[in-house]
Amino acid sequence: MKVLVTRRLPGGWIERLAEEVDVEMWQGEIPPPKSWILERIHDKDGILVTLTEKVDKEVIDAGKKLRVISTYSVGFDHIDVAYAKSKGIIVTNTPEVLTDATADLIFGLLISVARRIVEGDKLIRSGLWDKPWHPEFMLGKEVHHSTLGILGMGRIGRAILKRAKGFDMKVIYYSRSEHDVDATFVDLDTLLKESDFLVVTVDLNRETYHMLNYERLRLMKRTAFLINASRGPVVNEVDLIRILEEGKIAGAALDVFEREPLERDNPLTNFPNVVLTPHLGSATRETRERMAEVAVKNLLLALKGERPIYEVK
Ligand code: DGY
Repeated sequence: MKVLVTRRLPGGWIERLAEEVDVEMWQGEIPPPKSWILERIHDKDGILVTLTEKVDKEVIDAGKKLRVISTYSVGFDHIDVAYAKSKGIIVTNTPEVLTDATADLIFGLLISVARRIVEGDKLIRSGLWDKPWHPEFMLGKEVHHSTLGILGMGRIGRAILKRAKGFDMKVIYYSRSEHDVDATFVDLDTLLKESDFLVVTVDLNRETYHMLNYERLRLMKRTAFLINASRGPVVNEVDLIRILEEGKIAGAALDVFEREPLERDNPLTNFPNVVLTPHLGSATRETRERMAEVAVKNLLLALKGERPIYEVK
């Protein structure tokens, strides 16, 4: 059997994959151009991709023998899953193994923006910390005992909830499907109006695209913070910039953007009350190795006609 792998992955899992099937792999640091995939996929039984490679109708149609698309990510918005399924192609992903690492990063972002950690670091490095301790210097927002709003209550939402309990936070949430949760369910408007910290954990799909637009963001408290580490396009970035310019929220912490990498001159980079990280949610060595293990095992199991560990339904 032949498979196409679009990125090198940590942990020696591609070498193990190559013990069982013929592997053709892109070696570059940046994602392969679509043409590289299109030129090679015609005789492949499976493809292992990351979230930067679009697997659309064109790619799927070019994969004449394609039976499995394994993505090295929990998110699958880069894959036309419905079309793949209509062609009998199995799509697999890597949830669970990245839940805790992502929830840790989200909590880190939340605390960083609330307590002005990044701003303080920049101040020292730029030589501007020039006065001794002062009672009203760089005051931030308390995290403990504040209200955390979670938008979406999947695995990552639950992992954030667990962490929030340790901080004695009051947790409210809005989810279309998950309700068996030890937190208070509220409607979306109430979530926006009452959260001190609003954390976005929904998947990106047709319904959630630009879900947080100007009209919704302006319902948030002026003292509240938005934290997004799901997918950039869930938030309308132009609207968020306007909301920040108008001072309608206290700040934001963002790990994901409408376009990645973020353009150097993106206005988001000008706000001191915005913390930015370059899509690092699952970026720990341990998690990325576990993701590789799951992505490779998913691919092999599905190719052998067995049930993969995680299939996108
Ligand atoms: C995912 O898996 O979807 C994350 O965005 C990257 O790990």
